[in-house]
Amino acid sequence: MKKITLTQYLIELQRNKGCVSAELRLLIEVVARACKRISHEVSKGALGGVLGGAGTENIQGEAQKKLDVIANEVLVEANEWGGHLAALASEEMEHPHQIPSRYPRGEFLLLMDPLDGSSNIDVNVSIGTIFSVLRCPEGVEANEQAFLQPGSAQVAAGFAVYGPSTVLVLTVGRGVVEFTLDRELGSFIMTEANVTLSADTQEFAINMSNMRNWESPIKRYIDECLAGKTGPRGKDFNMRWVASMVADVFRIMARGGIFMYPKDSKHTAGRLRLMYEANPMAFIVEQAGGAATDGYRRILDIQPVALHERVGVILGAKAEVERVTRYHHEAR
Ligand code: F6P
Ligand code: MN
Repeated sequence: MKKITLTQYLIELQRNKGCVSAELRLLIEVVARACKRISHEVSKGALGGVLGGAGTENIQGEAQKKLDVIANEVLVEANEWGGHLAALASEEMEHPHQIPSRYPRGEFLLLMDPLDGSSNIDVNVSIGTIFSVLRCPEGVEANEQAFLQPGSAQVAAGFAVYGPSTVLVLTVGRGVVEFTLDRELGSFIMTEANVTLSADTQEFAINMSNMRNWESPIKRYIDECLAGKTGPRGKDFNMRWVASMVADVFRIMARGGIFMYPKDSKHTAGRLRLMYEANPMAFIVEQAGGAATDGYRRILDIQPVALHERVGVILGAKAEVERVTRYHHEAR
């Protein structure tokens, strides 16, 4: 079988459909190359001296791991000189990083979670990188305000998973494509041309330890799943929780399911970040035929008010997400 590389996929989109500009192609390739580097660092594990804490905190008061910091640096360094970005923002940086004046300024804004699933770094469980691409509004400064666009304005989004293999899931608004890193060739090779999500599922992902804090619609949904064959759903459900969003969403892309990190009485605004976790994942999931809401609203319709704001997330199989969303509206 002929192998299609990421570069070839992007060049063909640029040539035939005109939906990927040379600048966007460069951006995606640079991010993919940075992910390759991060994957390499991650795979060294304890031998590479990359595990453990960095002794610092990010803007959200979370302890940074060495790999959080390394991944952030790799992505910033890779992206700042190419001329494709106006600015970039990251979970690990309080304010957007401006492109140094010695480099040309491009038209895109890049948002990223450099290393998602930090709690799994030191235990050899899959982690990853999430990214989202917006266009910088013309004639404006690329400051925080420029980033505050709803997810529906994304021009591309993707995530890498550093697991037994390294995969890259990508959308430029033309469906979802999956690539696997061929370590011998050093290239991302297409391994799924059109990722689609089935509408129904019998598998849910949620951190059950938060159960006592949940709001009633989530409690109702999970109770009904747990009741199994003899309950209102008439079927048994399985549960999975990797605790790395990238790995949980990748599993859902591969075999279906629903993923939830809802608001609760402890995480009153939600746990996950809207702009570089929920938005890119929602774009990908919708492009694969699934759905994503915060319980009430479509994630991609939310107008952000702050770069690091949090949001409740319910995403995956369309019929299930619609059911959970309906439960929220019924409880109002
Ligand atoms: O980035 C936040 C994150 O690490 C996600 O990747 C993951 O889904 C979630 O937090 C795990 O949360 P918890 O620690 O509550 O299981
Ligand atoms: Mn994360």
